[in-house]
Amino acid sequence: MSLALVTGATSGIGRAFARRLARAGHDLIVVARTRHRLEELAEDLRRESDVHVEVITADLSTVEGCRSVEDRLTATPFVELLVNNAGIMLREPFPYTDDADEERLLAVNVRAVLRLTHAVLPAMIERGSGRIVNVSSFSAHGPGALATTYPASKSWVLAFSEAVGRSARVRRAGVRIMALLPGFTPTELHERSGIDLTSLPRWMWLDTDRVVDAALRDLERGRNVSVPSVRYKLAAWGLRHLPRPLLLPLSWDFSAPSGFWRPGADRVRKPV
Ligand SMILES: NC(=O)c1ccc[n+]([C@@H]2O[C@H](COP(=O)([O-])OP(=O)(O)OC[C@H]3O[C@@H](n4cnc5c(N)ncnc54)[C@H](OP(=O)(O)O)[C@@H]3O)[C@@H](O)[C@H]2O)c1
Repeated sequence: MSLALVTGATSGIGRAFARRLARAGHDLIVVARTRHRLEELAEDLRRESDVHVEVITADLSTVEGCRSVEDRLTATPFVELLVNNAGIMLREPFPYTDDADEERLLAVNVRAVLRLTHAVLPAMIERGSGRIVNVSSFSAHGPGALATTYPASKSWVLAFSEAVGRSARVRRAGVRIMALLPGFTPTELHERSGIDLTSLPRWMWLDTDRVVDAALRDLERGRNVSVPSVRYKLAAWGLRHLPRPLLLPLSWDFSAPSGFWRPGADRVRKPV
């Protein structure tokens, strides 16, 4: 059976990827920081799907953490599918964030994606097979979350996946790289970053399993970018093509007292 590695597998979208891939018969390597959650997940997957599961405890915000995963990616048996899923958000509006937190966000959302792709891609090209899914976000098209740096990090993931995935060398080798752009999905992401989304209408929420099913379908179809659900496909099209002034009133502004963009707003929310 082919081997898949999923980062950020202990909850949310990563956990759904691990479950879905195990059910499809893939052996797995699951990566995150919390050892006991990884062990519990591995036990469940072995019992439910009778697959081989390795656990790597690694903090992907550090170079050492990335290296421990890179070492596994360059060893045998080969990883056929890499899912760069681990990601974080920050609650405070820029510039009221700490440099250390901003650098941690870049390290997890950007540097880890770059390093792990860098580690696994040469062998995939040489073998003439392999798949990489980089989890970006619907906000990569901006300007949905003003005053935060999260969309910028996810725009990097999208641009990186498009640029490398569409390159002649990667395509001719039969390797596929796809950016996945989920919309709002109920996971631990917003709670961890202290962002209250309880007022978000129900229709805006996606289901983790459906996000993963749509992603794997699009990957098999050879898509370079996957936006699960028709409503978010339409929204992504709008964000990409409509003029920015039309979109600003729909944006969240984490620095504004109301939380939304307002023309002429001149007061900013103070850091808490
Ligand atoms: N949920 C949404 O609405 C949404 C929308 C668009 C895009 N996304 C993207 O989807 C991806 C998955 O997020 P999610 O919503 O499923 O969030 P989640 O439930 O918070 O899961 C995040 C995962 O990443 C791991 N992780 C966090 N920091 C890490 C680090 N420094 N090193 C290694 N692992 C780390 C966490 O495990 P440990 O804490 O055990 O390390 C956890 O397994 C992210 O890239 C996110 O940006 C989410």
